[in-house]
Amino acid sequence: MASANLMQAVWYDSYGGGASALKHVEAPLPSPKNDEVLIKVEASSINPIDCKVQNGLLRPLLPRRFPFIPVTDIAGEIVDLGSDVKNFKTGDKVVAKLNDVSGGGLAEYAVTKESLTVARPPQVSAAEAAALVTAGITALQTITESAGLKVDKSGPKANILVTAASGGVGHYAVQLAKLGNIHVTATCGARNFDFVKSLGADEVIDYKTPEGAAVKSPSGKKYDAVINCTTGIRWTTFEPNLSEHGKVVDMTPGAGTFANFALKKLTFSKKIVVPFLVNCKADNLEYLVKLVEQGKLKTVIDSKYPFSKAEEAWGRSLSGHAVGKIIIEH
Ligand SMILES: NC(=O)c1ccc[n+]([C@@H]2O[C@H](COP(=O)([O-])OP(=O)(O)OC[C@H]3O[C@@H](n4cnc5c(N)ncnc54)[C@H](OP(=O)(O)O)[C@@H]3O)[C@@H](O)[C@H]2O)c1
Repeated sequence: MASANLMQAVWYDSYGGGASALKHVEAPLPSPKNDEVLIKVEASSINPIDCKVQNGLLRPLLPRRFPFIPVTDIAGEIVDLGSDVKNFKTGDKVVAKLNDVSGGGLAEYAVTKESLTVARPPQVSAAEAAALVTAGITALQTITESAGLKVDKSGPKANILVTAASGGVGHYAVQLAKLGNIHVTATCGARNFDFVKSLGADEVIDYKTPEGAAVKSPSGKKYDAVINCTTGIRWTTFEPNLSEHGKVVDMTPGAGTFANFALKKLTFSKKIVVPFLVNCKADNLEYLVKLVEQGKLKTVIDSKYPFSKAEEAWGRSLSGHAVGKIIIEH
């Protein structure tokens, strides 16, 4: 319970240390600026980037300072507003993306801009909504913006490969692609075959077998796009499986990806690798919330943890073996 302008929160105060470095503390209650809302958090969702930031991947950009309250994907209820907020009132149920620099999700209360806040209908639970934010928007943007495909039936037919289709991003990507005219080949571990097929994947390959490692479609289809949710697969492995204008959308782009992208552009190569960085936008989130409300998209929850065990959720994310999304209930 918040008291005397303090609230319960979980933070870390240096790089590294994994789950055991998370500390339950009393932190200052944030107050909304003019264009912000204060949300009582009901659920938050962890993404691999949260743990990578703790590990120093974006050092010195993120975190800017310690202690840092991690996690940016939340759902809850608005309890206070800045004076310029037009579209919400206190008591509204919402889902929101928090600022990457400020973080703040692992707490009782969090502030964010009105422009990154979306109404949540009663049919969409706080857990389902919080899960959607980064992972759902990433899945949507990689398919529509990076690969240039449609997630409704208005687009031409296409074939794609979704790697790590059992994970947070992958499980949304398979479902969204199947809302369009898209044939989906998916990679996952054998234990998740039935799960990934149940999401709509047309063909499933086990990434631990030689065929899976070669990312070949069992039916011999060439991919117009690869939504690459994993790491460690080389361009030379993807390339023979791409159609004439095939693209590999790389979600964890390193220097090699950017160099490859530049080279392919300079040499007018038809097959290219596209580095991807999510840009969380409210209209994308609104679109996804609507799909969930209409029963066209589902959030599959790997595991739920009470706020008092947030560090266990962190450990689960670090394991790299989540099936769907990891949720903390506040
Ligand atoms: N660039 C961006 O803006 C952006 C945005 C969002 C996410 N990302 C990145 O995208 C990646 C995926 O995110 P996520 O949230 O989906 O991760 P996640 O939920 O942690 O993914 C876990 C899943 O991946 C599967 N997996 C692991 N290695 C695999 C492989 N080689 N082949 C097939 N499946 C494999 C695991 O299955 P098993 O248990 O069977 O191994 C597990 O089910 C992360 O690296 C994340 O940081 C980037």
